[in-house]
Amino acid sequence: MRLPCSAPLLCMGCHLIAVAAIEPVSTGLALGIAAAVTGFLARYQNVLYYFQECCRPEWISYNKTGLQEDLEEKLFGQHVASRVILKAVTGFMNSENPKKPLVLSLHGWTGTGKNFVSQLIAENIYQKGMASGFVHLFTATAHFPHEVHLETYKAQLQQWIKGNVTNCPRSMFIFDEMDKMHPGLIDGIKPYLDFYERLDGVSYRQAIFIFLSNAGGEKIVQVALDFWTSGREREEIELKDLEMALSLSVFNNKNSGFWHTSLIDKNLVDFFVPFLPLEFKHVVQCGLAEMAAKGLTPDAAVVDHMARDMNYFPKDERVFSMKGCKAISSRLDFYID
Ligand SMILES: *[C@@H]1O[C@H](CO)[C@@H](O)[C@H](O)[C@H]1NC(C)=O
Ligand SMILES: *[C@@H]1O[C@H](CO)[C@@H](O)[C@H](O)[C@H]1NC(C)=O
Repeated sequence: MRLPCSAPLLCMGCHLIAVAAIEPVSTGLALGIAAAVTGFLARYQNVLYYFQECCRPEWISYNKTGLQEDLEEKLFGQHVASRVILKAVTGFMNSENPKKPLVLSLHGWTGTGKNFVSQLIAENIYQKGMASGFVHLFTATAHFPHEVHLETYKAQLQQWIKGNVTNCPRSMFIFDEMDKMHPGLIDGIKPYLDFYERLDGVSYRQAIFIFLSNAGGEKIVQVALDFWTSGREREEIELKDLEMALSLSVFNNKNSGFWHTSLIDKNLVDFFVPFLPLEFKHVVQCGLAEMAAKGLTPDAAVVDHMARDMNYFPKDERVFSMKGCKAISSRLDFYID
């Protein structure tokens, strides 16, 4: 169990529990040790903050430069998404008194970097990035697979959100496969996204919610393809070109329409972030970066070979990668020997 550590005492309590749990037989001794440790920590509490992740600035602080650099250097082909994300996260994190939690909805084709961007955001807020105890990732098909358990899932999820935000107001929740989430479950989290000052005594205004989905992906592809067909630069695509496509598709599509409609209606989503389909050159960039990440010397020939073997659409023009940069790491292994 993770304690908030907002007060040093809670942190010590955390250690007491841990020590007692390891050695139940010699609890007396453990308490003795814990008491000694407590005495020590009372004087050197910063030492403790250093060793155990706490809901404190030592562990949670936003690095704008870091996020900006990561978006520029590690995310490929997403000039629109990069800009929106940086602006949204910076505005929110620098706000002393946000009126609601930050809610981002990331849309786009497979492998375009939605998960990756969530990871970059987490890494530039939490020292431990995705491994932080304050970052929570839920995948619809993995965490909430059976519709019959809807009520249980809903109660559980609400309890988790409440419990975690109570422990640490600066908590982050990522929901993957949002378009596969049951509408009932989405209804369950809606109250937490709203403008309430407090809900049952808990304020959710410092929290961050990120929704990932393929919803609208096809419309985004269409816009990118239109630009390509008319010989315009990809970099000329602006948010407004995509926003239209996104909102239309959202309302037209039955499956993804429901959650969107209810979230949009109440203005619960602060930013819709479109991810463009990736081209051959972006796949190559991903491949080179991945080789470097594996500790290898980036080899253009190897990466080129791999990228060429992938599928692209439309069939004749072969403009966009079917799978983007998804699973590029394991794909590469096949070409490296
Ligand atoms: C912020 O990120 C930059 C770039 O990664 C890094 O050089 C810098 O040390 C970071 N700042 C803090 C306070 O962690
Ligand atoms: C926090 O969320 C996790 C799921 O990510 C859950 O297992 C845990 O019980 C929650 N903590 C509290 C205090 O509710």
